[in-house]
Amino acid sequence: MFAVNVITLLCLMSVSRSAPLGCEDLLRPLDQLDPRHLEGRRVLVAGGMTNLLHVDYFKSRDSASINFANASESSKMSFTRIFGYGDSCQYLYSNITLGASSFTYDQVNLTVLFLPTSCPDCLVMRINNETKEPLRLYLFSRRREVEQKEMEEFRNQVECLKLLPPVMMDHTKELCPEQSNRHSAASED
Ligand SMILES: *[C@@H]1O[C@H](CO)[C@@H](O)[C@H](O)[C@H]1NC(C)=O
Ligand SMILES: *[C@@H]1O[C@H](CO)[C@@H](O)[C@H](O)[C@H]1NC(C)=O
Ligand SMILES: *[C@@H]1O[C@H](CO)[C@@H](O)[C@H](O)[C@H]1NC(C)=O
Ligand SMILES: *[C@@H]1O[C@H](CO)[C@@H](O)[C@H](O)[C@H]1NC(C)=O
Repeated sequence: MFAVNVITLLCLMSVSRSAPLGCEDLLRPLDQLDPRHLEGRRVLVAGGMTNLLHVDYFKSRDSASINFANASESSKMSFTRIFGYGDSCQYLYSNITLGASSFTYDQVNLTVLFLPTSCPDCLVMRINNETKEPLRLYLFSRRREVEQKEMEEFRNQVECLKLLPPVMMDHTKELCPEQSNRHSAASED
């Protein structure tokens, strides 16, 4: 009887733990990043930004997606960003090094932090400026659109960082192919 009660209690506790998280929890970087979870392609669903110039830049793209490839023990991966503008696609290739809760571009001194999300196929990526102040927060998913409660959670994270309200990508726009046809020169920014 006692054991049953303990189990019931544990169940109740896990339910109450899924209550909405406060800013501290929403912004605490993930501590155990699994490179295999990163692998593959995800589409940009929404972004929160600090200034209106970024918002215009964000809106100038019809689509954006990312691809992490080749997770190996060495913590090095290749990272591709793919942007669609009308009929054209832009591919930006970078090499990155994974940390416990972040990755760093090998060519530029820029660290991107992964924040928690309850959405199983999403990545929430925080980009800071040089003084570690938040600049942008991006929500990526393997789906073109996320559930309302998943979007709500992202909206809360954006609010916690005091960024402008999130801008949604247009999920009806066609995505660029995963690979560029011609092997264009590597580039990064
Ligand atoms: C993946 O990584 C291994 C070892 O680092 C390398 O030999 C191989 O070429 C890589 N494959 C691709 C597709 O980048
Ligand atoms: C990434 O690393 C590979 C192997 O070291 C190199 O051949 C390639 O040019 C690098 N790519 C970029 C974008 O720097
Ligand atoms: C990279 O950034 C860190 C922290 O912002 C700074 O301490 C370091 O000096 C920078 N390194 C380079 C090569 O700019
Ligand atoms: C970083 O962002 C903060 C807050 O927006 C700003 O005050 C600071 O000047 C920025 N630093 C750099 C180096 O851009």
